[in-house]
Amino acid sequence: MEHMSDDATRVQEFFSARAADWDSRFPDDGPAYAAAVAALDLRPGSRVLDAGCGTGRALPPLRAAVGASGVVLGADLTPAMLEAAVRAGRDHDGQLLRADVARLPLRTGTLDAVFGAGLISHLPEPAQNLRELARVVRPGGLLALFHPIGRAALAARQGRQLTPDDLRAEPRLRPLLAGSGWRMTSYADEDARFLALAVRAS
Ligand SMILES: C[S@@+](CC[C@H](N)C(=O)[O-])C[C@H]1O[C@@H](n2cnc3c(N)ncnc32)[C@H](O)[C@@H]1O
Repeated sequence: MEHMSDDATRVQEFFSARAADWDSRFPDDGPAYAAAVAALDLRPGSRVLDAGCGTGRALPPLRAAVGASGVVLGADLTPAMLEAAVRAGRDHDGQLLRADVARLPLRTGTLDAVFGAGLISHLPEPAQNLRELARVVRPGGLLALFHPIGRAALAARQGRQLTPDDLRAEPRLRPLLAGSGWRMTSYADEDARFLALAVRAS
């Protein structure tokens, strides 16, 4: 990658330190990822990006959804996470790209959907970065913002208060998406999952 921003460097340092044991910390999340992927309504032959794919936990269900004729891409800016994805064999399910989702090396309107798990709270410029995700998706294509734990449960796990200015709070997320080329179509924030779905505005 070319010159990285300070934000990107910070993200890389944070996740490099966590890459080796990322999957073993959350070994039971597989079914939740599969259920979230199912919400994207992918078909055989669909083209999908896992934005901030990390160790590629979503790549197997994404490949299962689009089949051999589909395209699965996993983009992440932390090499150590991508290396862990390769060690886990997830490069067989999708093509891994070392890339910042702020500037994707992808043509406009080429994808049917984007999946982003645990991503949005790490984005330095959420509106611009969500707009870049919209750029690479065709009109009518879908975005899933997912986390395998709800906002309140995550805050408790991290020992912090949930504040109303949280980016993923519905009153914040809906206008953020609307201003970035997306229309939010559903929102669920439960103990066991966070899942917001949006459609690419035409
Ligand atoms: C919380 S982890 C989630 C990883 C994976 N999606 C999962 O659910 O296991 C967030 C990931 O997003 C990546 N990331 C954060 N900001 C990014 C950006 N601007 N471009 C690409 N990847 C980014 C990090 O490197 C990290 O691997």
